[in-house]
Amino acid sequence: MIESITSTPALINQVIRTRRSVFTQQFEPGKVIPDEIVWQILENANWAPTHKLTEPWRFTVFSGEGLKTLATQQAAIYKEFAGAKFKQPKYEQMLNMPLLVSHIIAIGMKRHQVIPEMEEIAAVGCAVQNMYLTANAYGVGGYWSTGGITFIEEVKTLFNLGPDDRFMGFFYLGYIKVPSTDGKRGSIQDKVTWIK
Ligand SMILES: Cc1cc2nc3c(=O)[nH]c(=O)nc-3n(C[C@H](O)[C@H](O)[C@H](O)COP(=O)(O)O)c2cc1C
Repeated sequence: MIESITSTPALINQVIRTRRSVFTQQFEPGKVIPDEIVWQILENANWAPTHKLTEPWRFTVFSGEGLKTLATQQAAIYKEFAGAKFKQPKYEQMLNMPLLVSHIIAIGMKRHQVIPEMEEIAAVGCAVQNMYLTANAYGVGGYWSTGGITFIEEVKTLFNLGPDDRFMGFFYLGYIKVPSTDGKRGSIQDKVTWIK
């Protein structure tokens, strides 16, 4: 039986409000998160809300030798499609950076025609937030990146995504060497219209 969750609002407030993006340069290089924890992160992603239960999130997880595979593939794709925007340091970063992290989760949205695309993208966003929060609860660092090769159309095939699907970036995971500073947000009062 699930314990009453209404008795633990302080806990959920803490997990949400202490969540921070932890970037790759803050990770402990070479320290690997146990796969069991990564599965818990994925399992919680799978519990995101989803209209008509389409469960549109798709993940490709890279670890160990898989990180080298991703590094080689993404650098090659970048070189092929960057055109005039090609920058050698960025290319080298794509080759080297994956080797410094524990796991990389490629995030995809598998399109289901019954509901608007916006809802499918939003559901994947909810799934990624669950990943963020679970990483925080387990004391590991991570962040969502839409950099690198994310917006190159040809990348979709790498992650078993079709033309109507979306590739939505990467979630990087690693143990934290340099913690993020406290978060900062503008007041919620300024973003709410409340009609009584
Ligand atoms: C959809 C999405 C895409 C993001 N892409 C990037 C990115 O490409 N590079 C980056 O440094 N941070 C990226 N971030 C992380 C934000 O920089 C981070 O959430 C923001 O600085 C707020 O910090 P916090 O997550 O610690 O609260 C992304 C976040 C979201 C939600």
